[in-house]
Amino acid sequence: MEPTAPHLSEELDRLFYRPADEFFFSNSGLSLTYDDVSLATLYSEILPRDANFETALAPGLSLHLPVVSADMDTVTESRMAIALALNGGLGLIHYNMPARQQLSELSRVKNHVHGLIREPIKVAPDQRIGDILDLIEEKKFSFSTFPVVNESGVLLGLLPGHCVRPRFAPRAVTDAMVARGLVLTIREDELGDDPIARADRFFTEHIGIHKLLVVDAEDRLRGLFTLSDIERITQERLLQTKPARDGKFRLLCGAAVGAARDASGDIDRKALLDHMEAMVERGLDAVAVSTAHGHTRGVGDSVRLIRDAFPPLPIIAGNVTSAAGVEFLAGCGANTVKVGQGPGSICTTRVVAGVGIPQLTALYVCSKAAAHCGVTILADGGIAKSGDIVKALTLSHAVICGSLLAGCPEAPGQIMEINGKFYKQYRGMGSHAAMKAGSAARYGHAKDSARKSAAEGVEALKEVSAPADAVLAQLAGGLQSGMGYLGAPTLDILRKNARYTRITAAGLKESAPHDIIEVKTGNE
Ligand code: XMP
Repeated sequence: MEPTAPHLSEELDRLFYRPADEFFFSNSGLSLTYDDVSLATLYSEILPRDANFETALAPGLSLHLPVVSADMDTVTESRMAIALALNGGLGLIHYNMPARQQLSELSRVKNHVHGLIREPIKVAPDQRIGDILDLIEEKKFSFSTFPVVNESGVLLGLLPGHCVRPRFAPRAVTDAMVARGLVLTIREDELGDDPIARADRFFTEHIGIHKLLVVDAEDRLRGLFTLSDIERITQERLLQTKPARDGKFRLLCGAAVGAARDASGDIDRKALLDHMEAMVERGLDAVAVSTAHGHTRGVGDSVRLIRDAFPPLPIIAGNVTSAAGVEFLAGCGANTVKVGQGPGSICTTRVVAGVGIPQLTALYVCSKAAAHCGVTILADGGIAKSGDIVKALTLSHAVICGSLLAGCPEAPGQIMEINGKFYKQYRGMGSHAAMKAGSAARYGHAKDSARKSAAEGVEALKEVSAPADAVLAQLAGGLQSGMGYLGAPTLDILRKNARYTRITAAGLKESAPHDIIEVKTGNE
């Protein structure tokens, strides 16, 4: 029926560009993905740079950038997680490694520049300068100034970097150190509510001093501030992109676990809980119980176990693509549900097992269930460009990226050169190689049968890309534009405002550069 005045334009738009409920209901029975739709623009008063990306994934887990790096062994270890958190997002350290190694990857993120270094590297007065040089070489320290303490941790002096030279190798630390009386310190109880501001003031007042030692009432060393950390942190406070930090000013970090089983196939409660306890002790901000099929007894049991043992810990769980799957995981205690089965760039689950749902419809169905259950969802897999992020965020609270980050220098793995081009390995966690390395449980296979079982992922290469900072800035820029076009100052409003239309193959062709000879891609 043709619309009539006075609401002609409103009705016309509504007929052709539909809000989520109308759009997805009218397409029910047909599953769509990112490239099947486009978003309609809306009246806008916001400048893209004013778009606010804040997203609350769970009580106690909020991000300034709604991007999470995939828990894959060619995407997220500590370097990538640090880059994500510094840009306001979250890294999920993968679990295709021994538990002890996962703990140290997590610690590296949690100890990264957090203002007050709680456990500074100390030296003893009777050590030789040569020992200190060996220590620096062995541990690859990028600094050479060290507090000197006795066996009880009492501060005796400061060994300055300019004395740590091979010509002084035979000399004792006591001969070179600045004596305690000349070392400037601050008492722990004088730091106040904002230790960073206090340290910043100290460095301004004491020209030429680069280290501030913190001591307790007995003069035991309790920590250390460095000028460069403090400058970096105070700069960050002025930036638009804020790092994602915890209450102690440490970077946020998540880690993935599987539904660990014992020999009888039951959940290995002790192994899971011991590992979880160690991670929580180190400051874990969120755990992701991450498997290919999350609507299962094993994942449910693991989520319940973790929820009962660590009530306030944010739990991400998945993956699912159905409303029932979301409801199940929410009922087990998950706060955030990972949605995606088969959309990933390296996934072959749909080819091999014939299952999975094109991602946009899966997100819609899961978003309805999530709203009903009071949980949030993460759009996991298939994000190939910033426009996909905008579309995904019309239905979800953050996106998980694998392929977009796998070419960054921060991703694990060596760079290889092939015919003059540089690549990094990127492989599915269900590929033979990844399963052999340990991730078979994620796809429901025993590790020793990984060779025989059907792989659900491929091994691939990604061309080496710019550092994660630049890639994330590019993605954030695209998201800002999308929010600007939809008149959405916040992600909540983006979700409310979005209106969709289906596009055809011809529409998709029209959406990308066409009928030209491209000499430079948009991102160069
Ligand atoms: P993108 O598209 O960002 O996808 O590269 C990353 C996501 O893909 C999932 N994943 C897999 N899915 N077989 C699958 O079916 C696999 O081998 C595999 N490995 C990873 C995972 O959800 C990841 O976040």
